[in-house]
Amino acid sequence: MPALSMDQIVSLCKRRGFIFPGSEIYGGLQGTYDFGPLGVELKNNLIADWWRTNVYARDDMEGLDAAILMNRLVWKYSGHEQTFNDPLVDCLVCKGRFRADKLADARCLLHPDQRPGTCEGRFTEPRDFNMMFKTAIGPVADDEAFAYLRPETAQGIFANFANVLTTTSRKLPFGIAQVGKAFRNEINPRNFLFRVREFDQMEIEFFVLPGTDEAWHEHWLQARLDWWASVGVPRERITIYDVPADELAHYSKRTYDLMYDYPSIGVQEIEGIANRTDYDLGSHSKDQAQLNLTARVNANHDSTARLTYYDAERKTHLVPYVIEPSAGVGRGLLAVLCEAYAEEMTKPPAPERLTAVGEALAAFLKSVGRNEKMSPQQRDELLEQGQSIAAALPERLPAVETLLAMPGADLIDLGKKLRGQAQPLLDEHYRTVLHLRPRLAPVKVAVFPLKRNHEKIVATARQIRRQLQLENNMRTVYDDTGAIGKLYRRQDEIGTPFCVTVDFDTIGEGKDGSLTGTVTVRDRDTMAQERVAIGELQGYLEAKLRN
Ligand code: GAP
Repeated sequence: MPALSMDQIVSLCKRRGFIFPGSEIYGGLQGTYDFGPLGVELKNNLIADWWRTNVYARDDMEGLDAAILMNRLVWKYSGHEQTFNDPLVDCLVCKGRFRADKLADARCLLHPDQRPGTCEGRFTEPRDFNMMFKTAIGPVADDEAFAYLRPETAQGIFANFANVLTTTSRKLPFGIAQVGKAFRNEINPRNFLFRVREFDQMEIEFFVLPGTDEAWHEHWLQARLDWWASVGVPRERITIYDVPADELAHYSKRTYDLMYDYPSIGVQEIEGIANRTDYDLGSHSKDQAQLNLTARVNANHDSTARLTYYDAERKTHLVPYVIEPSAGVGRGLLAVLCEAYAEEMTKPPAPERLTAVGEALAAFLKSVGRNEKMSPQQRDELLEQGQSIAAALPERLPAVETLLAMPGADLIDLGKKLRGQAQPLLDEHYRTVLHLRPRLAPVKVAVFPLKRNHEKIVATARQIRRQLQLENNMRTVYDDTGAIGKLYRRQDEIGTPFCVTVDFDTIGEGKDGSLTGTVTVRDRDTMAQERVAIGELQGYLEAKLRN
């Protein structure tokens, strides 16, 4: 079962070093996150998989890495200076600032100190707020010497269309793929990685003959759904939103948004697949009147290029249409983590210990029902969550941790007793595990010495670790800081597909001489263990890590 709440993912990411709030030591910077040792591996693996599928596994794609800073005119003719706006309102009482199109109520629902509440302030009239960040260029900051931080990577591709076309001699249809940073001055960054001010995009601009665009749009819709499924976000967890005409971006003839059902956040866009027509190449071209453009573009008096393609069959220069699959790395990573996350029972607890937890939970809920200090909403939410756990014990026991972290739970003294009953069971009978696709897992293999002071066992384990990581290119860690069971749990929680243990048999000092030169390999998902000869370890692991 995937994650039930975003808190589970946020807490795991912080606890284990996937993702940290940006600039935390100075109180943070809203809308920014840093990828820690495990996060950077996972992110790189997701991007590499996208690149392999879209660039290496196809015959019709080139790659690109364009500069983030571009001539300001790019953003004038792309339409972003004029239209990349959010409608913004201010609360006249608490001064909170909101997107007008996202407000459910006519009055403000914050406290004057901007916590959830009911400030009931009226809002100002909406006004447009451009979401592009500006930065000064050169030593003198003035109104003209600035550049924007790109709000999408796409324009770097359009600006290089002619360069790529002439240097690769590509024929239509073909695409250009790019992965890189994008920046948006979001009014309300929120929901962890979901809405941030600095993020990575994986974008393709796929250039096609006008008239073939609709068929290619369908092709890319299917190709992208297939890729999400291949990285662990199944088709049935994604809905397709055919964006209505009045919600389309200024460049789009039609857009399919792929919507993922994030826990706690709800159904939200993970990727957009737009038919951008001849809008962008046409917008950035000179001599537009001669180009038979179908899109309505602003007149361009600054471009030095005609971004056209010579169609040898029709003996004519034309402006290709563009299909654009554009995915956010952070949103993708979040969906992959949510799908992979599980809290599982490894062996059923003894019935009397379970009964004791059930009784502690019932007493806790009774106390919640009587408590008059918490808000009615907190009470209802605690009761709902608690009753759903009670109805599904022992499987739902791990949700006790979420229950005790909910607002209002700290007001109940019996929470301590519940934790005291539940924690030992959780430690002994449950595990948190990330069932990540092995090729995405941040760490591929963990190597443990059965005895951490035994010179030969330690040397063999370290040698295996070095070999796998340096020569076989698998991110491998060495850990000797606990009992084997505890080390397994630690690796399960970060999704490590295989744990290798070096023991006395490995070094020929065990009871069974036939096991000399072999190690135990434990599989994360099945928890089954196998003896594998050290000489065959690389091949054994490589075959499984391709999945
Ligand atoms: N070039 C087209 C484009 O940028 P978009 O729908 O605005 O289209 C594409 O963005 C993807 O980028 C989104 O589907 C989402 O995954 C990601 N994205 C956009 N804004 C984001 C933000 N503020 N934080 C995180 N990801 C974001």
